[in-house]
Amino acid sequence: TLDTPSAKPLLDWYDRHHRELPWRVSPGMAARGVKADPYRVWLSEVMLQQTTVQAVKPYFERFLQRWPEVTDLAAAENDAVMAAWAGLGYYARARNLKKCAEAVANEHGGVFPDTEEGLKSLPGIGDYTAAAVAAIAFNRQAAVMDGNVERVISRLYAIATPLPAAKPAMREKVALLTPADRPGDFAQAMMDLGATICTPKRPACSLCPFRGACEALKLSDPELFPVKAAK
Ligand code: ADE
Repeated sequence: TLDTPSAKPLLDWYDRHHRELPWRVSPGMAARGVKADPYRVWLSEVMLQQTTVQAVKPYFERFLQRWPEVTDLAAAENDAVMAAWAGLGYYARARNLKKCAEAVANEHGGVFPDTEEGLKSLPGIGDYTAAAVAAIAFNRQAAVMDGNVERVISRLYAIATPLPAAKPAMREKVALLTPADRPGDFAQAMMDLGATICTPKRPACSLCPFRGACEALKLSDPELFPVKAAK
């Protein structure tokens, strides 16, 4: 509709300013036909839950060196995987990681399901991971929601409902804004924007590709969003 902002300025911004990350296929590489590896996307997204990009990088590289394919991880000793995970925290993630690799190897012939629903049927894969892998690895039009995306979308639309009640409305806005042609880049662009421009404190609005469309910027102070429920 007319009052739905376009994702185009964000994708143009991402083409110029995306972060180079070891699990990421850059827009330039994708244009030359390089495909994202679902195993790498899944592994990175599980590691990135509750852990920063900087902390994840060396762990991601070590896992990839040691277990280059999901079938290698499935065949690994549990203790070796737990030891390699040590330092990342939230050890239930590592146990689920191993179970998920085994399910992909043993029940799916070593091939990740390519839909949100199929991914969600795997152990340890919830709404977030299923959407992220479907969008980034398989270019599915899935609404990828994390804290960064919630902040960006709450500001863009000046969503006054407090979190967590606002989550369904936020998801709806993200779904409407997600472009059919580049959903994976869109998801990663929203995360990069939230991490580097649309930050919790002192966002760099003058550099933001949504500066012309952002309702929070028009109304008042983007820092007031997302609204948190009173404690
Ligand atoms: N945080 C979680 N997933 C991410 C991704 N794919 N790119 C950048 N930051 C992220």
